[in-house]
Amino acid sequence: MLMSYNKTNMYDLEPHIAEIYDQVETYSDDVELIRKLIGGRGPLRILEPFCGTGRILIPLAFDGHELVGFDQSKGMLNRARTKVKQLPEQIQSRINLYEADVVKDKWPIGFDLVVLGGNCFYELATPEEQEKCMISAATSLHSGGHIYVDNDHMEGELDKSWQRSGVNQGFPTGTCSDSTRVESTMETIWSDVALRLARFRRCTRVTLPDGSIIENEYIQQKHPVSKVEVQTWLESHGFTVKQVYGDRTGNLYNKESPRAIFWAEKK
Ligand SMILES: C[S@@+](CC[C@H](N)C(=O)[O-])C[C@H]1O[C@@H](n2cnc3c(N)ncnc32)[C@H](O)[C@@H]1O
Repeated sequence: MLMSYNKTNMYDLEPHIAEIYDQVETYSDDVELIRKLIGGRGPLRILEPFCGTGRILIPLAFDGHELVGFDQSKGMLNRARTKVKQLPEQIQSRINLYEADVVKDKWPIGFDLVVLGGNCFYELATPEEQEKCMISAATSLHSGGHIYVDNDHMEGELDKSWQRSGVNQGFPTGTCSDSTRVESTMETIWSDVALRLARFRRCTRVTLPDGSIIENEYIQQKHPVSKVEVQTWLESHGFTVKQVYGDRTGNLYNKESPRAIFWAEKK
């Protein structure tokens, strides 16, 4: 079994972090692109690993699709469940959420679409873990099913911005509705430029309304995937790449594109 380098899921350090996530990540252009790619098909059975607080899966359930989402973080899932409970019953019945690890656990089967959105590969420490997700996604899909994979675009060596030293403010930072204050910093402490690996020391300090403070320090390793890696994994694990987009408005990929977004079909 693959042992992950990362021992801490930062979204689970404290329950308020899920609220900060929803304050910061309010974009929906990826949902619009997924809708365009689905076209008139459906209702589809859609799987979203790394589903977080349901930013992507809730609107897709409104379109009539059946969604299964899983995530390692209890805090993120609790927030997703709270949001789902507030939806009309018909929509609620189309959403199933559960706790699981994308690397250690088996993914469910029988889906028409797998969504790997929102730079979710950046949560994982190594290319081996990321490739394993691609293999699991292939197992989850029917033949003829599709995968959507959406990451920042970085080719070649590890970008300079990932190598810089110094302590910077980082996610999660913000103030919650109950006035809890969350402040975080991150600092690159090691990088391998050729292997495109970086390790960060991350500190999160939560100040609760009663003034008590919870502090956590942990090390996280990331491997920003390249377009070439994602394409190679897809092609080696039973997919045909149908299109590569360079942004979420649907412009085609080129070397200068800000993103590398794959739409591929399971053979
Ligand atoms: C950036 S959030 C993305 C959430 C959602 N996909 C979105 O785009 O809004 C990443 C999520 O991945 C989850 N995650 C990180 N490592 C994971 C793992 N090994 N297994 C399952 N989920 C994981 C985190 O808990 C977090 O909720």
